[in-house]
Amino acid sequence: MVMNDPSVAGVGQKATNIVWHHSSVNRKAIAEQRGHRSVILWFTGLSGSGKSTLANALNAELFDQGLASYVLDGDNIRHGLCKDLGFSDADREENIRRIGEVSKLFLDSGVIVLTAFVSPFRADRNKARALVDQGDFLEIYCAADLETCEQRDPKGLYLKARSGAIKDFTGISSPYEAPISPELKVDTGSQDLKTSVEEVLAKLKEQKIIPDSTK
Ligand code: ADX
Repeated sequence: MVMNDPSVAGVGQKATNIVWHHSSVNRKAIAEQRGHRSVILWFTGLSGSGKSTLANALNAELFDQGLASYVLDGDNIRHGLCKDLGFSDADREENIRRIGEVSKLFLDSGVIVLTAFVSPFRADRNKARALVDQGDFLEIYCAADLETCEQRDPKGLYLKARSGAIKDFTGISSPYEAPISPELKVDTGSQDLKTSVEEVLAKLKEQKIIPDSTK
């Protein structure tokens, strides 16, 4: 049994009489066919720290190189799968739980999945990490400080949060727990996008997820 055998019913399993159906196409075979491994790249950081920008730029780069990748983005997912959730601590926990599970499916499908969620709570990020085997989850801290994010304020949300028009806003009226030992810390607060993309690509090569021959 592998460490995170999905066929074993976990805590909170409601349905009974369900039997896991094993796929005849496995991750290893997909990786061999495609020439790269799958992984979850979990981008975390304040709103405006550059998670979505970095994830999207990296996704475009991977696409150009013929690698299979996909971005799961907080603002987008909240329009569909998570549209019943708000920003209370409990709703954020459920948001991250769902994304952790969806990411695990993408991982199994052989895709490099890039998640761009504030994911402010360490415990929730760690639960997502624990769903998969070691090495399959790389936490990438988009380290832009509050002052920088507030100055950028690309969606005008910090202004609204300061005025009290938005409650429970991360960094203002709701906490952000920075990662203690992320696999990668990217200085999205001051360095340019190209440098940040290169840092993540280097990590993917170092971890033997994508071939060294990749640009
Ligand atoms: S998370 O905390 O549950 O991980 P998620 O990444 O899905 O959050 O959504 C965050 C995005 O929603 C932000 O980038 C911002 O555009 C928007 N948003 C709206 N209200 C809030 C809020 N109260 N706190 C943080 N982000 C908010």
